[in-house]
Amino acid sequence: MSSVSAVDFLLSRQSNKFVQAPGPSDAHLDLILKAAMRAPDHGKLRPWRFTLIRDQAVGKFADLAIGATRRAGKPLTDEKEASIRSWLANVPLLVGMACRIDHSNTKIPEHERVLAVGAAATNMLNAAHMLGYGAFWSTGLGTYVDEVNEALGYDGLDYQFLGYLAIGTPMGTPDPVSRPDYHDFLTEWK
Ligand SMILES: Cc1cc2nc3c(=O)[nH]c(=O)nc-3n(C[C@H](O)[C@H](O)[C@H](O)COP(=O)(O)O)c2cc1C
Repeated sequence: MSSVSAVDFLLSRQSNKFVQAPGPSDAHLDLILKAAMRAPDHGKLRPWRFTLIRDQAVGKFADLAIGATRRAGKPLTDEKEASIRSWLANVPLLVGMACRIDHSNTKIPEHERVLAVGAAATNMLNAAHMLGYGAFWSTGLGTYVDEVNEALGYDGLDYQFLGYLAIGTPMGTPDPVSRPDYHDFLTEWK
């Protein structure tokens, strides 16, 4: 693929929440995670941590996230619960993402480490797209519920949990999203 067509393809990326099996093959998942490792990372801290939740574990995880959200007293209507369950019933892979906060390192500000994990997430979204999968970043599913973070192995002291990527075979073509003109966000300083 020439570099121009690679960029053209990148410009066709859009999120696709509704995905189904098959999820990424082992070889494709390997490529997606290798793309994450290509993220910029100030100080080579490698602050990203990923947790795979696959196949049957997705439904089990939905039970945990929904139960923990209710136990935490966060608002969750029956309608919202039904919509989460119906979405996840088809999702073959969630990649949970967290940022490790090494408190002994005071040189690289915390927000730069979180940005590095965000860059890793974007690399995974782009890699999934290039491999023909649909993918969607969600901060639902108990992202901000301690019990859920802890169940995944991320205590709130040393880790900041940043949500999930759902990745799988697109169930349909999402409606095209109009993209703003970058000029509206651009200045030039001379
Ligand atoms: C950190 C982060 C968290 C997000 N969490 C949610 C979410 O919980 N629910 C949701 O509907 N969209 C969420 N989104 C937005 C979608 O992932 C997606 O970007 C959006 O639907 C726009 O689609 P696009 O990526 O094609 O522009 C989140 C995006 C980011 C960057």
